[in-house]
Amino acid sequence: MGTLHDVLLPRTLGAVTATQKTHQNISNVAVIGLGTMGAGIVEVFARAGLDVIGIEYNDQALERGRGIITKSTDRALAKNKITEAERDALLGHITWSTDRSDVSGADLVVEAVNENLDLKREIFRDIDAMTSEHAILATNTSSLSVTQIAAATQNPERVIGLHFFNPAPVQKLVEIIRTVHTDASRTEAVAHLLASCGKTPIVCGDRAGFVVNALLIPYLASAIRHYDEGFATREQLDEAMVEVGNPMGPLTLSDLIGNDVILAVCEYMYDETKNPLHAPAPLLRQMCAAGLMGRKSGRGFYDYVEGADHGPLIAEPPVTRHDELAGRLTAEYLNEVLRMVQTNYARPDDIDTGMSLGCRMPKPFDLLAEIGPVEVLRRQEKLYAETAQPAHRPVLLLEQLAQADDPQAALTELRAR
Ligand SMILES: NC(=O)c1ccc[n+]([C@@H]2O[C@H](COP(=O)([O-])OP(=O)(O)OC[C@H]3O[C@@H](n4cnc5c(N)ncnc54)[C@H](O)[C@@H]3O)[C@@H](O)[C@H]2O)c1
Repeated sequence: MGTLHDVLLPRTLGAVTATQKTHQNISNVAVIGLGTMGAGIVEVFARAGLDVIGIEYNDQALERGRGIITKSTDRALAKNKITEAERDALLGHITWSTDRSDVSGADLVVEAVNENLDLKREIFRDIDAMTSEHAILATNTSSLSVTQIAAATQNPERVIGLHFFNPAPVQKLVEIIRTVHTDASRTEAVAHLLASCGKTPIVCGDRAGFVVNALLIPYLASAIRHYDEGFATREQLDEAMVEVGNPMGPLTLSDLIGNDVILAVCEYMYDETKNPLHAPAPLLRQMCAAGLMGRKSGRGFYDYVEGADHGPLIAEPPVTRHDELAGRLTAEYLNEVLRMVQTNYARPDDIDTGMSLGCRMPKPFDLLAEIGPVEVLRRQEKLYAETAQPAHRPVLLLEQLAQADDPQAALTELRAR
């Protein structure tokens, strides 16, 4: 990870200059699937001056994808974000096709078709045979195993995950997922390319949820579980986590994302990990079965239809432990953050970047420094003793930091490594 580290540090990315904009010898990009994400990804690369071919499976779908890009660039023009000449130049970099074999000239192929493993594997098997051997093959999957997709090819070392966030032209963060096979020089090339396109890439291994969802979703699931168990009222819970520095409380955030989406991500994560911290609370299932999806359905943990007031889902418990909430949820979250570092899954600065750019949450390592490793360990040990839940066992790295002669210095050293 040493060289990659140097490449990926945000300060290094900030220093990418026009003369370095060689795009690491990647000048032709193919994007397969021009839906919400694929169309946005075409725009990102075309705006940076790369030649992009957008591929769909029939003329109708191609027209739809083309329409998404035209609308998006027209909107950017109307808002004076680009000039007419820039819009024309951007569109001039794009060609269109319904023939998958047109990937043959690409240096980078980004697949963004529907979230279906069989379909993605079929496409990767094909494009592996259709492209030249230097080409990098990327999938924009959000929940499937990149390793399983790569395994459909003869050359898994050139397969990576490229997880753009929605809307791709706007969101700076991109998670680059390396599998056990992925060749580091290719990860590096893609990181440089993304930086030169104005994106902020972070790198992680191939586990359900990558970095951002793997930390955010269990945190939301835990908050919902605490609410379900009568730990606090919905307002107490949300307020406690806003006080920690989050832009909104976890129940408000679940309603905003959609409780059905949270349930689906919990399920795929639990399916892969069998980690009880990823299991959805019974209340979340009940809410989804009852259609309480959150903001989009008009009701979730709170009401969103004007004048409606159904009151809380859980009647106010006679005894609450709301004063312990922030401490518990934060310790549990930071324990998982350190597990990622302990297992070499992701680097501290990448995790900080992911959570601050992806969720507008405080940087986890700032939070850890603020509370202090000794206090986080004390809280986590208490949680572990109380729940007897193996998943709550403090990770070795947390113990090491807390037991160092100078825990803050040890933490600073870890962050700089
Ligand atoms: N929507 C999001 O917020 C989001 C965010 C990050 C990642 N993702 C991931 O990105 C991928 C695409 O998601 P989306 O939301 O853009 O889906 P979407 O349904 O909007 O688009 C999928 C596109 O793929 C096309 N397609 C299907 N089969 C094809 C084939 N054989 N050849 C060429 N094109 C084909 C469809 O016509 C459609 O236009 C998924 O893997 C998803 O998990 C989605």
